[in-house]
Amino acid sequence: MGAVVVVGTHWGDEAKGKFVDLLGQDADVVIRYGGGPNAGHTVVVDDQTYKFHLVPCGILNPKTLCLMADGMALDPEILVKELDELEARGIRTANLRLSANAHVVLTYHKQLDALEEAAKGERALGTTGRGVGPCYVDKAARTGIRMGDLANPQRLKERLEAVLPQKNAVLTKIYDAAPLDLNALLEQLRPLGERLAPLVTDTSALASEAVAAGKAVVFEGAQATMLDIDTGTYPYVTSSHPVAGGACIGTGVPPTKIDQVLGVVKAYTTRVGAGTFPTELLDERGERIRERGHEYGTTTGRPRRCGWLDTVVLRFAARTNGLTGICVGHLDVLAGFPTVSICTMYQKNGHLLRDFPAGDVSLLDGCEPVYEEMPGWPEGIGNVARFEELPPAAQAYVRRVEELAGVPVVMASIGPRRDQTLVPPDMPPPRALFSAPRGVPVGPRVPAR
Ligand code: IMO
Ligand code: MG
Repeated sequence: MGAVVVVGTHWGDEAKGKFVDLLGQDADVVIRYGGGPNAGHTVVVDDQTYKFHLVPCGILNPKTLCLMADGMALDPEILVKELDELEARGIRTANLRLSANAHVVLTYHKQLDALEEAAKGERALGTTGRGVGPCYVDKAARTGIRMGDLANPQRLKERLEAVLPQKNAVLTKIYDAAPLDLNALLEQLRPLGERLAPLVTDTSALASEAVAAGKAVVFEGAQATMLDIDTGTYPYVTSSHPVAGGACIGTGVPPTKIDQVLGVVKAYTTRVGAGTFPTELLDERGERIRERGHEYGTTTGRPRRCGWLDTVVLRFAARTNGLTGICVGHLDVLAGFPTVSICTMYQKNGHLLRDFPAGDVSLLDGCEPVYEEMPGWPEGIGNVARFEELPPAAQAYVRRVEELAGVPVVMASIGPRRDQTLVPPDMPPPRALFSAPRGVPVGPRVPAR
């Protein structure tokens, strides 16, 4: 058995939840390693749809231990609501543990998220407004409140006594907003702390034990490579480390213990919020993808920007995450176009760029996508049972994505349900990923770039 990291390759919403859920059925442990309620992971099981913001998707498997690890920003209100909703639907949540080191998103983080965005005006990032950025700011400033504090009323009081005056100074003096009252805040947090305290523990020890014991462990990525605060399109990024390396930073599991890294990529590309997006389609083709793919944010309901698949970004994601396999999703959504385009390179000032110009974000200015056009495939592929039964054009598209990425495709998805997942004929079943040799792609095909 082994440790498999699942990461988004572009700007989020790649359907990481679906693939984590698939692997989660064979996993002993599923760990969320970063981000907070800015994530929105949708999982469909039979006729039931679950929308997760914080809780790892592995919770749907009653035997799986689910950890919310050090790197996360937890909003206790949203977490308790999510747990209550799951329990009400008959999902046991007793196997969940929360890291004492995870940071707590508080009321003032949410206020500051909104106030800072409003102050930025036209340069606003288009955050999810969940207070996640300001929470990580406090983590880096060492003024954060952690789950261990929330679980200990005396310590929580001491920490807030130290931090709140500074927060109130910012709220009142910079933003002309009302100050927060310490006692009211403590009153609001008390029942949440009491409820969550029994779950708070050293998740790093639990994760390390599981990995050392050779258990099947899935690291559930949230956000995505291009939203990573260092790797992504700064400043239009989130404030954490969604990349595969974040799975180590965020959990305490060392890099030498990670076996496989799966990149989840949609058959097209989307982005929500501001920032560069070279293959964005601002015409009816983008509109068609949005409507057919229900490309509206799970967390905020915002319409997502849609465009052709950008494999310049995909190759960058392959490099920065060390991808050993990719999962291509939403082939059903791209169906029905007479032809589909894939961005293979950028061009700028007459030069072709095969590699993503990550050295400086301004290098992206003026980059135009270079497309390869391929035949489209007809609609109605949602009930295809085997990869080989997909229309030849859809199979060819998946193979081309694989070639351009330089990473083998281990799964392809034709709809949100578990059974709408196809494994290419020469690939082993998903559970074999847990026993694949460390750092080496599974299956016989290691495509040349
Ligand atoms: P999942 O896990 C897509 C984007 C926001 C915004 C930027 C910063 O569902 O893929 P933040 O609230 O994090 O400070 O916002 O990051 N963003 C996401 N976009 N999917 C997500 O998560 C995202 N999480 C954050 O839209 O542009
Ligand atoms: Mg999402």
